[in-house]
Amino acid sequence: MQNSKIIAPGVYWLGADDRRLSLFENLFPLEDGVAYNTYAVMGEKTALIDTVDSAVTQQYLENLEGVLDGRSPDYLIVNHMEPDHCSLVAELMRRYPDMHAVGTAKVPALVRQFYGDDISPRFLPVKDGDALDLGGRTLHFATAPMVHWPEVMFTYDDKAKALFSADAFGSFGAHHSGIFDGDWGTGETVEQEMRRYYTNIVGKYGPQVLAALRKASALEIEFICPLHGPVWRNHIPWLLEKYTAWAGYTPEKRGALVVYGSMYGNTGSAASRIAMELAARSAGEVRLYDVSKTHKSYLVAEAFRLSHIVLAAPTYNAGIYPPVREFVEDLGTLGLKGRTAAIIENGSWAPMSGKLLREMAGALPGWTVLEPALTLRGAECGEAELEAFLSIVAGSINEQ
Ligand code: FEO
Repeated sequence: MQNSKIIAPGVYWLGADDRRLSLFENLFPLEDGVAYNTYAVMGEKTALIDTVDSAVTQQYLENLEGVLDGRSPDYLIVNHMEPDHCSLVAELMRRYPDMHAVGTAKVPALVRQFYGDDISPRFLPVKDGDALDLGGRTLHFATAPMVHWPEVMFTYDDKAKALFSADAFGSFGAHHSGIFDGDWGTGETVEQEMRRYYTNIVGKYGPQVLAALRKASALEIEFICPLHGPVWRNHIPWLLEKYTAWAGYTPEKRGALVVYGSMYGNTGSAASRIAMELAARSAGEVRLYDVSKTHKSYLVAEAFRLSHIVLAAPTYNAGIYPPVREFVEDLGTLGLKGRTAAIIENGSWAPMSGKLLREMAGALPGWTVLEPALTLRGAECGEAELEAFLSIVAGSINEQ
């Protein structure tokens, strides 16, 4: 059933939700599905902006036909060529033989690689600052390379003052009562799912996101229209503030993320006591997670949010308990900068995880590793050593 929405006069949302998908990119758990947003902008000429994932083709085509109402689109603006947004680019080029595709110069090769079609005879390459007159309104283009792929650009409609921002400002989650941020609320869940999306999907490219934000700061923006999540119109300054912090790897809060791995519960028990003691002794927020229970994508988001990270891991095969090691590797891959780490190791006869975690965390950019690490031997832990560890970590949080 046709289900498009009007964002502003001449600007339409014609996306769709996938509530069946359980893992985004076959990696990240989706608790509430995902929205594939796509748009149409109508002047004297009509421009479509991106398409959708193949899973929601039927809904998209019904929405498109409803919005076009018999018109043929003149342009397909390709802001992003990842398959969750471009699965219908080649198909629409075949359906509308007079339509031209518009994007950065890298787009035709990506269309050919994924779909086998050569769209170059009807492709209009654009560069930073180029514009496209639709008659009564003009689209302006700003390249945004590596937000989150190299071909990405933003498109700005100067009549509605709408920024079509590709993956930037996107979120996990599906639409419920409407497409706007007010319909999604700005409650904790929306913020968490937007942070989890940003940090895990785009987080590696903070400098590129900051460059794109600088370009966007010159624009008067009334709507931000990303490819996932709500369309933003009510809380744009808040959104830009969040993105500036995330892209700059700036902690949002003083506090400790305590992440532990535990085979038989002993490291977990120590981590639990330490988390509670830190909460009692410091002015920061403390969050405690079992890395074997909570998906790493949630822990990554928490690591971006908080200033300190306490890592607790048994020694395993003379190395670090694997899920803790993988979590720290993820933080390195995503380029998280400037956190303070504290380390708890466990080893009954030859503890090694502390030394190895210290090396891993110490190699991350701008990280500080507090000394000494705390050593557990099975369920045993010296009270004096524990007291010293708590004092150092709580003191560091309070100094932040
Ligand atoms: Fe939602 Fe980079 O694609």
